[in-house]
Amino acid sequence: MMTKDDIVKLLSIKSKDEHEALIEKAGSLRNETLGNRVYFRGLIEYSNICAKNCYYCGIRSGNSKQERYTMTDDEVLDCARFAYNTKYGSIVIQAGERSDKAFVDKIEFLLKEIKKLSDGNLGITLSLGEQSDETFKRWFEAGAHRYLIRIETSDPKLYKKYHPDDKFHSYDERLESLNRLRNHGYQVGTGVMIGLPGQTVEDLANDLLFIKKLDVDMVGMGPYIENENTPLYDRRGELIPSKDRFELSLRMIAVLRLLMPDINTAATTAMQTLDPLGREKAIRAGANIIMPNLTPVKYRENYLLYEGKPCLDEDAAKCAGCITGRIRSTGAEVGFGEWGDSKHFKRRTEGK
Ligand code: 5AD
Ligand code: SF4
Ligand code: FES
Repeated sequence: MMTKDDIVKLLSIKSKDEHEALIEKAGSLRNETLGNRVYFRGLIEYSNICAKNCYYCGIRSGNSKQERYTMTDDEVLDCARFAYNTKYGSIVIQAGERSDKAFVDKIEFLLKEIKKLSDGNLGITLSLGEQSDETFKRWFEAGAHRYLIRIETSDPKLYKKYHPDDKFHSYDERLESLNRLRNHGYQVGTGVMIGLPGQTVEDLANDLLFIKKLDVDMVGMGPYIENENTPLYDRRGELIPSKDRFELSLRMIAVLRLLMPDINTAATTAMQTLDPLGREKAIRAGANIIMPNLTPVKYRENYLLYEGKPCLDEDAAKCAGCITGRIRSTGAEVGFGEWGDSKHFKRRTEGK
């Protein structure tokens, strides 16, 4: 079992050789444990309307300059159909956080329609934030079977620095939501941002131990990237250089793989924002999930949580081809038509 000190040492590696050795070790462990297959989760950025006001995020409710959109039902179903026909296996629906009745009903309706149009074959992950037990239950019954709520940082004191200190942004409630998800049968995921202003490698080591202790099935984490239209931009002077932030993020992915060999971990878009080969490098470091963007191009510039997000002009078909090539360039294969569910979940629930 790795201690916090061991993790801090790995995250703090300076030498290029040691860095490469860590990445290589984690990538090999992924191959030994899960094989060399990477699974698609076609990303639908359903709406940028958000009730919350996180200090780091471009679509926070307080950003009055942001134009708002919600995709139409047909647009969502077209994305799902494309994913199904292109043998993506799964989609993920992501949006700003809302829990009003109209939103909850709409998601339930869309889930059922997506299941129908794919004969139950398309796997569905939700990334729609904290919700009541009743909502979690309804969405699960409508067909979603994975749910991701990033804790963003596992330290309650830091959490307060990156979020307004009010009842809509409670660390305890977010954690509680994550724990409640479990009871509904979902595969559960979380994650953090890496390289936030004021965050230390000790904090990141604690994040990894937190994720391990939570015993989640999936993780999505990536570097924090500044956004000029957010309050946290004022602290950009404290950030480590983007190259270092990227390398640190890679080591986070690698160490996480060593800590939790059989979970699903994403090569996130934020990784590619800091390095043109960021997602490929993340796969080499042990990630096994990738999220080709399906969102209609006309909405993409309005879903900018951070600056420099790639694929603004590339439609779903272009991203499909592009990502497949990128995955193959790492020596991995795409698990077309498969759900690629978390092995960890199977072990946890079926004792396998
Ligand atoms: N940089 C990196 N990631 C961000 N997110 C939001 N804003 C940023 C940013 N500026 C991430 C958060 C959130 C997810 C949807 O996007 O982790 O959970
Ligand atoms: Fe809303 Fe999520 Fe952005 Fe926070 S990070 S403002 S909850 S979309
Ligand atoms: Fe969208 Fe490469 S993944 S263009």
